[in-house]
Amino acid sequence: MTGDAIHPAWLPDEAWQAVGSRRVLVRADGPLARTVMQEATRATDHHGGSVGDDGRFDLVLALTDTVGLPDTAASVLAELDYRSGRGTLGTEGFALARRGGVTVVLADGTAGLLYGLFHVVRLGEAAFGAALPLDVHHPVTARRMLNHWDNIDTHPVMGQVERGYSGGSIFWRDGGLTPDLDRIRAYARLLASVGVNAITVNNVNVHATEAHLLTDRLGDVAALADVLRPYHVRVHLSVGFNSPTALGGLPTADPLDPDVRAWWAETTRQVYAAIPDFGGYVVKADSEGQPGPFGYGRTHAEGANTLAAALEPFGGVVHWRAFVYDHRQDWRDRSTDRARAAHDHFAALDGHFAGNVILQVKHGPIDFQTREPVSPVIAAMPSTHLAVELQVTQEYTGQQRHVCYLGPMWSEVLAFTPWGATRPTVAEVASGVAHGDERAAPGRRPSGQGGLVAVSNVGDDPFWTGHPLAQANLYAFGRLAWNPLLDPATLLDEWIDLTFTPAATADPGLLRRTLHEVMDGSWQVYESYTAPLGVGFMVRPGSHYGPDVDGYEYTPWGTYHFADRDGIGVDRTRATGTGYTGQYPKPWSDVYESLASCPDELLLFFHHVPYTHVLHSGKTVVQHIYDTHFAGAERVALMRSNWARLGDAGLVAPDVDARVRERLDEQMRCAQEWRDQINTYFYRKSGILDAHGRRIH
Ligand code: GCU
Repeated sequence: MTGDAIHPAWLPDEAWQAVGSRRVLVRADGPLARTVMQEATRATDHHGGSVGDDGRFDLVLALTDTVGLPDTAASVLAELDYRSGRGTLGTEGFALARRGGVTVVLADGTAGLLYGLFHVVRLGEAAFGAALPLDVHHPVTARRMLNHWDNIDTHPVMGQVERGYSGGSIFWRDGGLTPDLDRIRAYARLLASVGVNAITVNNVNVHATEAHLLTDRLGDVAALADVLRPYHVRVHLSVGFNSPTALGGLPTADPLDPDVRAWWAETTRQVYAAIPDFGGYVVKADSEGQPGPFGYGRTHAEGANTLAAALEPFGGVVHWRAFVYDHRQDWRDRSTDRARAAHDHFAALDGHFAGNVILQVKHGPIDFQTREPVSPVIAAMPSTHLAVELQVTQEYTGQQRHVCYLGPMWSEVLAFTPWGATRPTVAEVASGVAHGDERAAPGRRPSGQGGLVAVSNVGDDPFWTGHPLAQANLYAFGRLAWNPLLDPATLLDEWIDLTFTPAATADPGLLRRTLHEVMDGSWQVYESYTAPLGVGFMVRPGSHYGPDVDGYEYTPWGTYHFADRDGIGVDRTRATGTGYTGQYPKPWSDVYESLASCPDELLLFFHHVPYTHVLHSGKTVVQHIYDTHFAGAERVALMRSNWARLGDAGLVAPDVDARVRERLDEQMRCAQEWRDQINTYFYRKSGILDAHGRRIH
């Protein structure tokens, strides 16, 4: 890909029409203010507005400490002062109001102005219509991060981007830094527009070449940081726990060894000499073959704290991943439960992590399945900074060949209340305000570390994300990280309105309506034709694409469904199973323990039941499986014909239309394959006929 072929995603020139046709005044200095100025100029050049100070303006973007603000902006500032006071917006917040025909964005810091500008872009003409009351916006989570699982080299099995479905890496090409920095800049701009402020640029599985990014290839990381900085995106690096031996030539990587500690301190000092605003390290340790503190008889707290001590003088953080489990389990051993592993390893360490360690916890206890309960680790670490990790790349949700809008899933996870209805949500834990009975709310500044992290779905594909509609997942992640209370359907509207230019047609609502029809429930549709009732996996080992019901059943990976002739599911109860339900606080430890109260969609995650078990829905398990699988494949057919209406009416660009049609054809084929394999498998196991006599093979 070269720079000129970059698809604009949700920031096409048309999205800037409202701002670009106005007179814009920017009153701020510094690098980010220059970005604001450049963005405004680019838009006004395109749409005929102007940027400058000739005393007449429609949009003012100014810092709150500006001397001599224009009258309208000064009156908004006076109201802000009266309400909460300047200085309360934080480094990233902004206030917005429209009065007297002028739209005013005020911020205490230039990052707030940048975010404010993108907010005005999102509002479009609504930002320049009727008066708008003063509205204050803060990110709820302080660190909103994407992890790229990108390798410099192409891995023989995983390709260049591990679990990447969008081509090669946008950062690395031909064994080094990409020459296409325009694309990185365009990416940074997209990230800033949705509020993402941190990224890692290499895989959590740190291979031999990529390990050197920490030392002799650091210049490449610094070059990336230079491109990302104008958009307020900080660079972090995935590092190997064994770096002192692999890179430093030391005989050990024991985190308590003084030479090891000195090596980390000196190496980190050099990182900051090259990249003063470097964010910190991400570490996958003792996980799926990666080295870690267990190899030296040390705890994960001891391991994490050594890296944290090296970063601390510079204000850096360690994201230490909690994805630690035994991937060499004996399938015959029914007592080992992979779902338990993270809690078993980490809960007892609460309170032992340094203040700049952030424990990065996958949202579910297993591995980004289509349906999992929320990880009990999130409720077990009140004295530890936590980040919740989501997966924007669709490893287990259709690999960007299937439409699967994940906003609703993330929203459900973020709104989950691990301690019961009136207590903090997962989002509040991630934003650092949960403990001490504080409540986070939009407009409230986060009090601590922590944050939301997601595995990116971006590559060097012309549409960034393989499936053009998968751009919406990236968009929704950023927006939910900024404010977890946002409604995923509203986010879809935002994304649609920015991305697609409405054509003048007899039915102006068709585009938006159809995209909602195709995308709104697509996560549930995907769930309905794949693994049922929370049991997970049933995917092809290795690639994780397409059905293979017993593919993982007799492997060491700890992901089993235990289907036999009588029933299916994993008994994770305290009474008769692995005891995993006991890792939750009340009420969930009881809700999940009991067949009577366990939600249907998670039934097989927690219980082993006969095929004739009757769900809350009134259906038996096996009939539910048949019904959902037939219905799921039908829904995909409907998605495909709905989309075709748009394409036939010429409402989307031909290249986007062609790509989406090709993907929907594959989704249809794959959904039918899932339907037939799953239904046939359970019919053969159970011998129970479909009540409706449909075709099962
Ligand atoms: C999954 C995925 C791996 C990845 C791992 C992780 O298991 O399949 O490719 O490395 O998650 O999150 O570390």
